[in-house]
Amino acid sequence: MSVDATEVAIVGAGPAGLVLSHLLAARGIDCVVLEQRSREYVEHRVRAGVLEEPSVSLLRSLGLAGRLDREGLAHRGIQLAFDGRRHRIDFVELTGRSITVYGQQEVVKDLIVASSAEIVFDAVGVMPCAIDTDRPSVQYRHGDESHELRCRIVAGCDGSYGVCGPLIPHRTTTEHTYPFAWLGILAEAAPTQDELVYARHDRGFALYSMRSPAITRLYLQVAPDEQLAGWSDDRIWTELSTRLPLDDGFVLNTGPIIDRGITALRSSVSTPMRHGNLLIAGDAAHIVPPTGAKGMNLAIADATVMAAVIDEALHQHRPERLVDYGPACLGRVWRTQHFSHRMTTMLHRFDDDPFRRELQRAELLNLTSSVPAATDLAEQYVGLPFPTLEPL
Ligand code: FAD
Ligand code: PHB
Repeated sequence: MSVDATEVAIVGAGPAGLVLSHLLAARGIDCVVLEQRSREYVEHRVRAGVLEEPSVSLLRSLGLAGRLDREGLAHRGIQLAFDGRRHRIDFVELTGRSITVYGQQEVVKDLIVASSAEIVFDAVGVMPCAIDTDRPSVQYRHGDESHELRCRIVAGCDGSYGVCGPLIPHRTTTEHTYPFAWLGILAEAAPTQDELVYARHDRGFALYSMRSPAITRLYLQVAPDEQLAGWSDDRIWTELSTRLPLDDGFVLNTGPIIDRGITALRSSVSTPMRHGNLLIAGDAAHIVPPTGAKGMNLAIADATVMAAVIDEALHQHRPERLVDYGPACLGRVWRTQHFSHRMTTMLHRFDDDPFRRELQRAELLNLTSSVPAATDLAEQYVGLPFPTLEPL
């Protein structure tokens, strides 16, 4: 058994864990990141694509936005399509702020390459121990060797199926599942415009997004138990052409599909977000349906609060500050949960309920004809301010 020591052991090299490692490094706090997957795997996992303005500002302030500023696609707004017509929500006009389309795996690559912290990839059997004492540790195996990483604090940033969340005793999960999933593809097809299209259609929701001037990212609402095998390339393109507003002048380029996957939609928030010296961030604590484009951004927001409480606990000798971590995050988490749920219920097909369909149309009409209603959506989409700790 090899024994090492650090101040903070971070479990998981996703957006939450990697941003936290940079924030801690900026405060002179030593940390080690333990990741169960290989570097190759985490750098190529296709997931989120939208960065809120506060996330971009944070990455810039950490000096991590060089490639993001060169290659990220700045979007002024989004388009909502219903009844075959597109309607623009212009974020810049309504809020003075915008969003950036930049793949999550690109964010992850940038954070890894610039990291000063040790990142142990392929860490097997990662398990935090003694989290309710002053001397927690994390045990894991790497290659043929067993390791113990002694630390002051364990940061559980290990996603929705990680090991850290379940270690919190008396944890309560408030959740909601939706009766559908998303089939997502990446295609080698040039995007035809520089705004996302969220389309409500009687056959189900469709989303037009992108990753670069050569790659389009597209999603279709499908049944929750849908199998990829039932979706030929032809069927995917036909369904996308039906649901996206082609009669309104919108042009969909097609091309080879280079990645595909199905993701179930759910909302959940687990509390508390801390037990003893274990703190949980990102998907390990809460999941939002992707319709609001918020999961990665919420993970980054949690990391900022976690870094602040860890700094106070370790460097300003106020360990009692750890108690404030979850409560400081949860107000924004629930507002974001509400926004993501609203976007989801407004745009997806729910069985054949004509009453619900008319309510969806009324909500979309309201959003696209009322400046205050559009401003509310725009403010939330570009990102609420990150939470801050109440001063002592
Ligand atoms: P993760 O990214 O899941 O990272 C957790 C890490 O921990 C992983 O690398 C995992 O391998 C590692 N890990 C897990 N268990 C262990 C263990 N036992 N030991 C060691 N390591 C472990 N969000 C947005 O903001 N905008 C979007 O547009 C958006 N679109 C999405 C589209 C899809 C199809 C999906 C699936 C998600 C989308 N999301 C979006 C959500 C977003 O991807 C997640 O919310 C985000 O990845 C959360 O980051 P995280 O760091 O908390 O968790
Ligand atoms: C994406 O580009 O992957 C994306 C964009 C917006 C969403 C979800 C996913 O709401």
